[in-house]
Amino acid sequence: MRRLNLALGERSYPILIGGGLLSRGDLLLPFLPTSRVALVSNTTVAPLYLEAVVKGLEGVGAGVTPIILPDGEAHKNWESLNLIYDALLASRCDRGTTIVALGGGVIGDLAGFAAATYQRGVPFIQIPATLLSQVDSSVGGKTGINHPRGKNMVGAFWQPKLVLADTDTLQTLPARELSAGMAEVIKYGLIRDLPFLSWLEAAMEGLLARDGELLAHAIERSCANKAEVVAADEYETAKQGGRALLNLGHTFGHAIETGLGYGEWLHGEAVAAGTMMAVELSRRLGWLSGVDVDRVRSLLLRAGLPVKGADLGAARYLELMSHDKKVVAGSMRLVLLRALGDAVTYADAPREDIVAAIESCCRG
Ligand code: NAD
Ligand code: GLY
Repeated sequence: MRRLNLALGERSYPILIGGGLLSRGDLLLPFLPTSRVALVSNTTVAPLYLEAVVKGLEGVGAGVTPIILPDGEAHKNWESLNLIYDALLASRCDRGTTIVALGGGVIGDLAGFAAATYQRGVPFIQIPATLLSQVDSSVGGKTGINHPRGKNMVGAFWQPKLVLADTDTLQTLPARELSAGMAEVIKYGLIRDLPFLSWLEAAMEGLLARDGELLAHAIERSCANKAEVVAADEYETAKQGGRALLNLGHTFGHAIETGLGYGEWLHGEAVAAGTMMAVELSRRLGWLSGVDVDRVRSLLLRAGLPVKGADLGAARYLELMSHDKKVVAGSMRLVLLRALGDAVTYADAPREDIVAAIESCCRG
């Protein structure tokens, strides 16, 4: 088992990564203030993994209330959140109840927001089961739901007490979902870890073949990068850089997700196409070479990801992007690359270059 720490003073927590962890109630027990647990999952993940987690928890004396939600990004909304509150209240869960999320980023974001708000906040544990959630969404405390007008527009920062990433769960993940998670893995190489980018270029086929050791290494490096960034800028308030750098490709990608309707493209797929737009814009600003752009495109393609954006039209992209949370006082602060492995936040990209980058990534 690999162990990392997210250093946030009194709210620091471990990230445990490895095989066979799901049923390890003993790893969860030290983080439960009382024996009551509400286990939030969905109709796809629960039949696969709920029993193992429940058995592990019951084995250490915990009482578990399962809460099973419908599956999908389209359900990351008020209705699902209310289902969680209803179940917590119906089971008389109190402030000592720990909410445990078992699933991908949708379940983690929903359950985390419920934990942040139920009775003004209860303890929370993440058991991420997709690659994307193991390398990104389970770490760092962003929780929330979508609004029809914008992705993740309602939410809270609420750090978990523990992240338990069982790499065995990735064996049942659909190939398309594995690729989607790879977009966020590649992101860490692009924004701040050039040696990791090179490692990914060498390891991509093994990763897609689900080699357990390669996956564990990729998850560890991803979480180590994310933990460092979050520890330095937990609430994304840094004027330059900081946590916002984790959003490479996301402002463009969120436009695709919102523009097409949630669930049409997977989040990671939208991030991949959005990353190509950010990379192309960085080239237009003279920061990246054509060779750099080809290198990124080639890796995303090898990971099974789209490099061409959804054909919404540049005007619609700009409109949707202007609603993004990264827009501060009307100026579009984008995450761009000064070089591969060196990201910046930048608010001065000329509008015509943004339009040209979008259009060139939607053609062909
Ligand atoms: P997801 O939660 O929708 O999971 C993808 C699919 O895989 C779902 O159908 C799910 O039921 C299924 N699944 C999950 N684990 C499985 C397993 N082990 N075997 C088989 N099927 C499994 O999607 P995701 O990619 O995990 O997460 C995307 C969400 O995460 C988006 O809503 C995005 O906004 C959010 N996100 C949040 C953060 C954050 O910091 N909070 C960061 C990145 C992304
Ligand atoms: N996924 C971006 C963040 O956690 O800040």
